[in-house]
Amino acid sequence: MKARGTTEDDITAEVLRRFDATEDTRLRHIMQSLVRHLHAFVKDVELTEAEWMTAIRFLTEAGHMCDDTRQEFILLSDTLGVSMVVDLINHRKPEGATESTVFGPFHRDGAPELPAGGNIAPRDTKGTPTIVSGRVLTLDGRPVAGACLDVWQADSSGLYDSQYAETDELHLRGQFKTDADGRFLIRTVRPVYYAIPTDGPVGRMLTATNRHPWRPAHIHFVVSAEGYDPVTTHIFDAGDPYLESDTVFAVKDSLMCTFVRHDVVEDEAARFGLEPPFCTAQFDFVLKPVQR
Ligand SMILES: [Fe+2]
Repeated sequence: MKARGTTEDDITAEVLRRFDATEDTRLRHIMQSLVRHLHAFVKDVELTEAEWMTAIRFLTEAGHMCDDTRQEFILLSDTLGVSMVVDLINHRKPEGATESTVFGPFHRDGAPELPAGGNIAPRDTKGTPTIVSGRVLTLDGRPVAGACLDVWQADSSGLYDSQYAETDELHLRGQFKTDADGRFLIRTVRPVYYAIPTDGPVGRMLTATNRHPWRPAHIHFVVSAEGYDPVTTHIFDAGDPYLESDTVFAVKDSLMCTFVRHDVVEDEAARFGLEPPFCTAQFDFVLKPVQR
């Protein structure tokens, strides 16, 4: 009788064989590829038993960190660049359409619907008041009326509402609709660069590998409209010092946005109760029609 599992490669071949009968061909492809790459990785680094146990503990701890508002596994995927590779594979866009970027771990459902000019940061008194405006357009430059912009960002201390233990109230989140000309107008505070949460295993991984936890200042958007592919993206402050080294690799040149500081009274801003200093930022989103 043939000896079983005599070599490392025998085990790999046998594990692959056990998935041969998977009826779902996509699942079979994914599982067998995962096994091939995972075994190759373990053989490549000659993983010790202690390292194997460290990895088990790391993943267990990542799971324990997760709840309704904390997603350590998304953070792990983001900091390993996996989220951006998935994004790039899944959202190959035609020239001119707004590019996507990572969803990130901080989105929450149920952001309030606000009218044009609505303030998503009413409780942030330290930040620089900012108006973000622009249009949602088709690839050939026509306005998209009634498009929805789901917006979220960190406050002027660099924290999302869900990172405050004392409250679960939504803040710095809102949903806006474009008008007949495709225009939107959002009042907020100027985003700042912030560190991703470092109090969990992902933070320890960054420290152990001499990586910083910073993300350049940005505002998150999901822009959607009937008949168009929704786009999950950010706009980035074009003057930010961390654009070159975003810890989650999410920066794309086409998502740069200039935040202009104003130090004198301006009529349109005054209409929204804004006194200097304040910022304005303009960005147009371009949606790609759904492929039929
Ligand atoms: Fe963010």
